[in-house]
Amino acid sequence: MVNPDQRSVEEMLAGMSDQPRIGILTAGGDCPGLNAVIRGVVKSGMALGFQIVGFEQGFEGLVDPIRCRLLDHRNTAGILIQGGTILGSANRGKFGSKVGVDQLRKLPAELVAEVAETFQRFQLQGLICVGGDGSLSTAQQFHESGLPVVGVPKTTDNDLDCTAMTFGFDSAVDCAADALDRLHTTAASHGRVMVLEVMGRHAGWIALQAGIAGGADVILIPEIPWKFENIFAKIDLRRQMGKSFTMVVVAEGAHLPGGHAVTAEAQQTDRQTRLGGIGNRIASEIQERTGQEARCVVLGHLQRGGRPTTFDRSLATMYGAHAVRLIIQKKFGEMVSSDPPEIVSVPISRAIEKLRTVQPQSSAVQAARAMGISFGDYPRPMNPFAVVTPLGSG
Ligand code: F6P
Repeated sequence: MVNPDQRSVEEMLAGMSDQPRIGILTAGGDCPGLNAVIRGVVKSGMALGFQIVGFEQGFEGLVDPIRCRLLDHRNTAGILIQGGTILGSANRGKFGSKVGVDQLRKLPAELVAEVAETFQRFQLQGLICVGGDGSLSTAQQFHESGLPVVGVPKTTDNDLDCTAMTFGFDSAVDCAADALDRLHTTAASHGRVMVLEVMGRHAGWIALQAGIAGGADVILIPEIPWKFENIFAKIDLRRQMGKSFTMVVVAEGAHLPGGHAVTAEAQQTDRQTRLGGIGNRIASEIQERTGQEARCVVLGHLQRGGRPTTFDRSLATMYGAHAVRLIIQKKFGEMVSSDPPEIVSVPISRAIEKLRTVQPQSSAVQAARAMGISFGDYPRPMNPFAVVTPLGSG
């Protein structure tokens, strides 16, 4: 069992003081803001007299060969603005708890027992698990077996329930809106249709928010069924208005009309199948059936890389500090959650019950429709406020 310093765990433990200890790990797909959470935990935890042990490669670092390191002010200096995670992450492997949206996988008892032994050896007062819905399902199984864990919500897609926001999302929207800005000028120069494919496996939050901020003409998301004819109608309408180009933003998980999401690989049974390709399908169809030149850009992991926005840095820092508070209060099995302007906590079990998706009647969708943005569900702009509740009535 080695840590990155090549010391055995026993040597490492022997060199530690007897101050109480908190563990932290980052699991699942990475996103900007993970390092800000780590820093938030280290700064606030150390100020309260804790030692912070960072486990590497998600949950994998908890079991043989244990990979961990003591985190302190020196080795976390400057990480607030860095993308990725200094602890590394893993979103596949033996700790995978979820396949697809709702298929839960029970962890083998021996694996959980091995994790319990690590808690015991390190005398952990609590473990902070930073992750999305799949990783928090693993944390929940630890909690149910009596281990002191707390959760910090993380998703690029913003589809975790019971929190107003997850960090990483704002950075992804910023990246996608910037891409739309850039694509606008080249689309206008050549009179083309530009299709931007963004992340969003089950929920269209990134496409929706980036589409509004980046002035898209068409937004296609998994929550609103659409038809090709309605996209062509929007392109035609724009031509009639003298606009030679059209901007389309599509979530990777938006289903083809009457069909399924487009995948980048054959269907997998033991993990989520990689999505990708819907943007190109749409661009080809537009070019073939309208005669207008169309191009597609797949933004992919650019949305998950690089520096977090100031919003994400601030949210992630607050999450880190309040995760330490949860451990002090022994609120195990809880996840920090954003309930603006406060950070509160909710049971992890509730947060992982279902995914948070875009409501087709939500204010954001209505505002987008009011801008003339088509969701591909009607041939012409519809009255966005025809069937809605008054503002402020929820
Ligand atoms: O769940 C977040 C997400 O970024 C999805 O939007 C995307 O489909 C998936 O992760 C990509 O995962 P990976 O990095 O494993 O290819």
